[in-house]
Amino acid sequence: MAHTASLSQLQKPPWALVNGQLVRYEDVQIHISAEALTRALSVFEGLKGYWSQSGEVFAVREPRRHFERLCRSAALLQIPIDFTYEEFLAGLRTLAEHLLDPDRDLWFRPTLYVTQGHWGEGTRADLVVTAFSQQKDDPDPMRLGVSTWRRSPDVALPSRVKCSANYVVARLARIEARRLGYDDALLLNDFGRIAEATGACVLIADRSGIATPPTSECCLDSITVDVLQRAAVDLGLPFERRPIERSELLSADECGLAGTISELTLVTEVDGFHYSQAGVLSRLRQRYLELMRGEGERLGVELVPLVLRPDGYWSAPDAPAAASDGTSTDFAQLNASA
Ligand SMILES: Cc1ncc(COP(=O)(O)O)c(C=O)c1O
Repeated sequence: MAHTASLSQLQKPPWALVNGQLVRYEDVQIHISAEALTRALSVFEGLKGYWSQSGEVFAVREPRRHFERLCRSAALLQIPIDFTYEEFLAGLRTLAEHLLDPDRDLWFRPTLYVTQGHWGEGTRADLVVTAFSQQKDDPDPMRLGVSTWRRSPDVALPSRVKCSANYVVARLARIEARRLGYDDALLLNDFGRIAEATGACVLIADRSGIATPPTSECCLDSITVDVLQRAAVDLGLPFERRPIERSELLSADECGLAGTISELTLVTEVDGFHYSQAGVLSRLRQRYLELMRGEGERLGVELVPLVLRPDGYWSAPDAPAAASDGTSTDFAQLNASA
């Protein structure tokens, strides 16, 4: 099977973080009546941390941007947030200290699950952070198909809100694509133009430069696209955000998927139309990966160190003692009052 980072969620790491407390991964619970389950009310982020080229520093990319996007998603869905950026970052650090492997990177998934409340009254949410290790090799190039499923319009379910509900249609699109023999799917928006892939934005390149649809075309406001834009400008490559018709995508010279977990994955084919693997997107991809490993000019990209490994020495911290019933005290209290 092709190496795609999304397979990481099949892992079962030993620990997760619930409202700042380490809890055994197997023991994280949610009540059946939680609005997260009955009304699909949860918002989340996916952040990636990278070991530096020298192997001495493990740093997470743009955590403040991810925190801000999580806050924005929560605000649009009327979910209160009661933790600060500093607490959010401290949580990532704790989890990294307990899960990090010196030979693998780590992908964090902080999710805000609505545990209490009813139709917007008395809403409360738990912040659960899970993290999954990632092999250091770049994801393989992918073959895609354009789905018969579409991204919902902004007035129905805004794509800028990174909520679980937005991934219901993405899941259907991916199942459809796999049934047809593709690795993943591209979704159109309500106007029949390119919106995004199931978990990444779309970039095309031809002789006029690199282009990607803006958020108003019904895609997520991608943090990776912002980094890629800076890297492209630095390489002297024209980079535009504008609507892209399906026929323009199919006749482009190159195509790629951009996202925290996809990085810049090259696309070999969409619906039988083939793309070059040796053009500007492959140069841009190389530059992006160098940036993530702390190499070369930083271009203002924030890489926040979480774990240091001086002198190549590595030892995992001792695991904390779990409560006798396996849950953290905080979580037990929340469940009792749900
Ligand atoms: C639907 C969707 N679009 C785009 C992206 C890319 O966003 P980012 O670069 O912030 O990871 C993601 C990944 O989170 C996604 O799930």
